Amino acid sequence: MACTNPFTSVDEPAILGPGTLDMALPLVDALRLHPGMRVLEVGGGTGQVATILAKAWDVTVFTLEPWHGGEDIQARAAAVGVTDRVVALTSRAQDLPFAADTFDGVLSINSFEMIGDERPAALAEMVRVVRPGARVGIAEPMCLPAPIPPEIAELDERGRLRFQQCFRTVAWNRDLFTRAGLLVTQACYFPEARPWWLAYEAQATQPGREVECELIRRDEGRWLSLGLVVGEKPVAHTAAPTRWGVVGPRSTNYSYAFVRAADGLLPPVARSSAASTYESAAAARRENSKGGHIPVTCEADAVSNKGRSPIVSALQMRPRRTQPLSYGDSARSEHRRATTGIPA
Ligand SMILES: C[S@@+](CC[C@H](N)C(=O)[O-])C[C@H]1O[C@@H](n2cnc3c(N)ncnc32)[C@H](O)[C@@H]1O
Repeated sequence: MACTNPFTSVDEPAILGPGTLDMALPLVDALRLHPGMRVLEVGGGTGQVATILAKAWDVTVFTLEPWHGGEDIQARAAAVGVTDRVVALTSRAQDLPFAADTFDGVLSINSFEMIGDERPAALAEMVRVVRPGARVGIAEPMCLPAPIPPEIAELDERGRLRFQQCFRTVAWNRDLFTRAGLLVTQACYFPEARPWWLAYEAQATQPGREVECELIRRDEGRWLSLGLVVGEKPVAHTAAPTRWGVVGPRSTNYSYAFVRAADGLLPPVARSSAASTYESAAAARRENSKGGHIPVTCEADAVSNKGRSPIVSALQMRPRRTQPLSYGDSARSEHRRATTGIPA
């Protein structure tokens, strides 16, 4: 990375919250992003953060913008030449249309707090879609651990700003992250929060924002702040491997193959044909050869099989010439799970 901060060196800030561009670099650093990664942003706004990330970090960014839609974001991405690395969606963080373990990082600036009471559900989704070992981070308005001054509460209610519903302390967010299964790596207030709030207030000149501006000025740093919380998805959080049980004709000549793949990329199947098992394994291997992280182990038991079954040779596995398997053990129980849809 260059030494200059690509977020704060933009000519025309296009932000919808206090300190968006100031908080971006500390957050991105805490997420340990590097080129080629696939990143999810919750709350894209104008798309400025997503396009800077795509251009300066050479990552692919999927960004959620349920309020305004993605047209402006895609236009901005096209204008800076990163159309192929920015994808805007109108999805909400509570219902992410992605498989588990899809992203190398999830970030949200001045947006996660907007989700209000649905934050636990949204965070559960964010944790689900990030891969084990990768990080989820937020940087946003957080209140100090002090009672809200009465006149600030009154302005909040008068302006229907919902600050009291949305802003929580760093400790509250840290606890939320921990309860979502993340190992918190960083949790702090930004010491520059007050000047960043005031800079935001100074550019909020549109009619109708007078009460908000008055609240920011009169708070004087007693309750309003900005904070950052980052957590890592533990490697042990990996979803239990999904097993595909493949059952050949249950006569004299049949075979079983079990393909274990990380939950998510490949669809769980209750009943699978030999072909789809082969395809599952091959797809996972293809993905891994491109740098994927799908642990695939294959086991095959050829039972009463005269030589290598087509599945076994297709998977390039050495068949274990086992004794016929007992019930409850390996292949037959897998067969039962496979045919009943009970996951292993
Ligand atoms: C104040 S704007 C901040 C935008 C941008 N990050 C910035 O700082 O300029 C809040 C953003 O949160 C997004 N948002 C609100 N609820 C959301 C949800 N449930 N899931 C994902 N994004 C949401 C909105 O679409 C909006 O872009």
